Amino acid sequence: GKGVLVTDDRAAALAHAESYLSQGAVLVEEHLSGPEVSLFFISDGDTVRALSPAQDYKRALDGDKGPNTGGMGAYSPLPWLTERFGGEAEFVELITREVALPVVKHLDAEGTPFIGLLYAGLIVTDGGVRVIEFNARFGDPETQVVLPRLVSPLSELLMAAASGTLEDVAQPAFAEAVAITVVVASEGYPAAPVTGRPVGGLDAAASVTGVHLAHAATANDGGGLVATGGRVVDVVALGTTFAEARKRAYEAVDLIALEGSQHRTDIAAGVIER
Ligand code: GLY
Repeated sequence: GKGVLVTDDRAAALAHAESYLSQGAVLVEEHLSGPEVSLFFISDGDTVRALSPAQDYKRALDGDKGPNTGGMGAYSPLPWLTERFGGEAEFVELITREVALPVVKHLDAEGTPFIGLLYAGLIVTDGGVRVIEFNARFGDPETQVVLPRLVSPLSELLMAAASGTLEDVAQPAFAEAVAITVVVASEGYPAAPVTGRPVGGLDAAASVTGVHLAHAATANDGGGLVATGGRVVDVVALGTTFAEARKRAYEAVDLIALEGSQHRTDIAAGVIER
């Protein structure tokens, strides 16, 4: 995420470390190469239920260039999992068995059961799947492409997690539709986002077929909506194919007026359709 430098350049790594050492600590991690997957598990402390995998785009610029951000876009499902793992269900079963359940069982054995949303951030390397991070929350913007595809009631899953009855709940079902989200960010994000600028065109954007908006950093200043942070609005588009979802999302993005705004143009580009 933000503040992370992934580099092959030793001098750049040292300079980055020095700039952060003055503010506290620096964590050095193994350099993992491969596509990222965000996989969310709902846990009642003993049993888990996985949601559909999504891919986040962490870098600010097209082609995975520029600084790391909180996430500039996402898509779900991930058709390429079929070639690598035999299918989404096989991948989910593997990560449930090898990652989620061991963590949840261990926390339970320690007397600190994990009840809630376990977010596994994964890298699919040539040597196997590696965990790069866990979060105890939904991912942003991946959630924007996972929940619109969820057919089973989310409330039922959350209630079962809270009341320790997930075992009685079937694996969540997901629609065949694909989803992509494109983040519209303020000028200067992630280093120094410019805030306070008016955001227009949102009604027109939301009226594009298959599109809805998720507000991330907007507020009404009395005269209309203004941007209040780095990632301002997520444009979410559903479609029967990634080509259709991309067309809808970018048509809507082009209707949003925010001076100096930035977005990636390559979200879900090149995804092989199922
Ligand atoms: N998109 C990354 C995160 O939510 O941490």
